[in-house]
Amino acid sequence: MAILVTGGAGYIGSHTCVELLNEGYEIIVLDNLSNSNDEALRRVKEITGKQFKAYNIDLLDKEHVTNVFKENKIDSVIHFAGLKAVGESVSDPLRYYKNNVTGTITLCEVMQQFEVKKLVFSSSATVYGASGNNIPITEEARIGATNPYGRTKHMIEEILQDVYRSDNEWSIALLRYFNPIGAHKTGRIGEDPSGIPNNLMPYIAQVAVGKRQELQVFGNDYPTRDGTGVRDYIHVDDLAAGHIKALKKIQITNGVDAFNLGTGKGYSVLEMVNAFERATNQKVPYRMEERRPGDAAICYANPSKARKLLGWQPTRDIDVMCEDTWRWQYNNPNGYEIVKETNKASKSPVQQHAADFLMPK
Ligand code: NAD
Ligand code: UFG
Repeated sequence: MAILVTGGAGYIGSHTCVELLNEGYEIIVLDNLSNSNDEALRRVKEITGKQFKAYNIDLLDKEHVTNVFKENKIDSVIHFAGLKAVGESVSDPLRYYKNNVTGTITLCEVMQQFEVKKLVFSSSATVYGASGNNIPITEEARIGATNPYGRTKHMIEEILQDVYRSDNEWSIALLRYFNPIGAHKTGRIGEDPSGIPNNLMPYIAQVAVGKRQELQVFGNDYPTRDGTGVRDYIHVDDLAAGHIKALKKIQITNGVDAFNLGTGKGYSVLEMVNAFERATNQKVPYRMEERRPGDAAICYANPSKARKLLGWQPTRDIDVMCEDTWRWQYNNPNGYEIVKETNKASKSPVQQHAADFLMPK
């Protein structure tokens, strides 16, 4: 029996694939590569020394998703596939609702058809909105996403609650991630944002490697220690480990339950700059800018529910998060880009791999 990983070629998905393979699971990846590169999957195989099937399929394509379930014995699904850029979701909301919400509905329809009722879903701390909640945030906090991306996550959570209400055999974990950063310790896989990074850590890393001139710090007049925004940064491998714990939990209990995956510690933007400089010995020039609209002053998790019910606890501290980010960025200054170029240019071993990526039948 296999675990289907949708969005498995992406940032968090690829790290979770490594963790799953290392734990002995059989996996099948489904990804349309809209925001990723199949080189990530080649490197997952390289890191783990294990093979798995990967399908280049869009979740909206029900016929081909159905074929994946026909061709394989799938036991549970970890569902990462989705679009995630907040700004883009404001300018193109329909694309976000269609891809994220309709994609999840299609997946669940096919799961239902094949009696696969165990699902781990990538939700986000963004469902809590930017203000009005007590810090640290528990799962009982008021829900109030403030942008279309966040609302897709909230809607999907509601849909999954209804699916469970209609059929109590479903078992669903809603994992609300705080701020994933870092990379696998080998430096072979990591976050590869397309274009200018929206998020703090990839931006810092690109400044350090010389791709960008300076960091813009969005706001230094927040009611925080140094005036800059505070967030809960979590190592992507700790996050990946959280998925394994959730997967184990949904094998033994039915229901639908939400879990915060964060460390419970908040760091300001300037503290992150300092931590990165200290851990990597690189300078990160920055300048103060206006606040970014929609940003919370402070957001960090109370992760005690995940600790109690999943038996999960993050183990990597901020120094490790910075060191691992830097190892990835330094060794791959253009992310997986070089490989994309090579793919186009010649019959390289990488192109050979691209042929291994299964196309829908
Ligand atoms: P990512 O963009 O790196 O990975 C998402 C993957 O899904 C990509 O490989 C993309 O090609 C694929 N995908 C998108 N739409 C698809 C579709 N219709 N069919 C098939 N594949 C599709 O993003 P990530 O950072 O790894 O995030 C994974 C999940 O976690 C997303 O659902 C995201 O919303 C959620 N999340 C991410 C963060 C974060 O800060 N990275 C925080 C909270 C929640
Ligand atoms: N920041 C800067 N400069 C930058 C980028 C960010 O100062 O160039 C600041 C922000 O103002 C904020 C902090 O760094 O104070 C973190 O910002 P990120 O964009 O890295 O993260 P956010 O907490 O704003 O949002 C992220 C994802 C959301 C997700 C949320 C919670 O973008 O999709 O984490 O998981 F919902």
